Amino acid sequence: MANYCCRLWARQMCMIMRQNFAKSCEQKLNDQINMELKACHQYLAMAFHFDRADVSSPGLHSFLLKASGEEREHAEKIMKYMNKRGGQIVLSAVPEPLPCFQDSLAALKHALQMELEVNQHLLDVHALASKENDPNLCDFIEANFLQEQVDGQKVLADLIRQLERAHDDLGDYLFDKYLINGGMHGGK
Ligand SMILES: [Fe+2]
Ligand SMILES: [Fe+2]
Repeated sequence: MANYCCRLWARQMCMIMRQNFAKSCEQKLNDQINMELKACHQYLAMAFHFDRADVSSPGLHSFLLKASGEEREHAEKIMKYMNKRGGQIVLSAVPEPLPCFQDSLAALKHALQMELEVNQHLLDVHALASKENDPNLCDFIEANFLQEQVDGQKVLADLIRQLERAHDDLGDYLFDKYLINGGMHGGK
């Protein structure tokens, strides 16, 4: 009973500073947290697939491992925000990640698809926050997520295209790498 009262009191303390934070936004933010954690889990599984001795792609391993860490940071950032708004964090079970990928290209294409879904959900959170007249939540999403998502999606799209070019025309791909590395006057 004392434990229950304690929990109730703690919940009341949260509610004291709660202002203009709709239940619908709270639920949508919880969905976003769980999506970020799902992406974290998926990137982690992919990262260690490409670390296997029979796959051995150390570059892709570290790229995906970094992406996994970023998704966890995103989840934690929203959790911190949820507590600031007086909401209740509800974590759900993280789904089992897709186990492995045929090759680097398939993994990167899957990563881009996942990012587009996450971005769509962020846009939905923003639309809901606008509808509920919650400028603070709109600002939080805009300032911390929207541009980073678009930037990350461009990086993935570039990597996918470069990998396709390396498959189709290695000479053309290498020529472009030569230009990046300071062909003509850039290297001096
Ligand atoms: Fe994310
Ligand atoms: Fe991401």
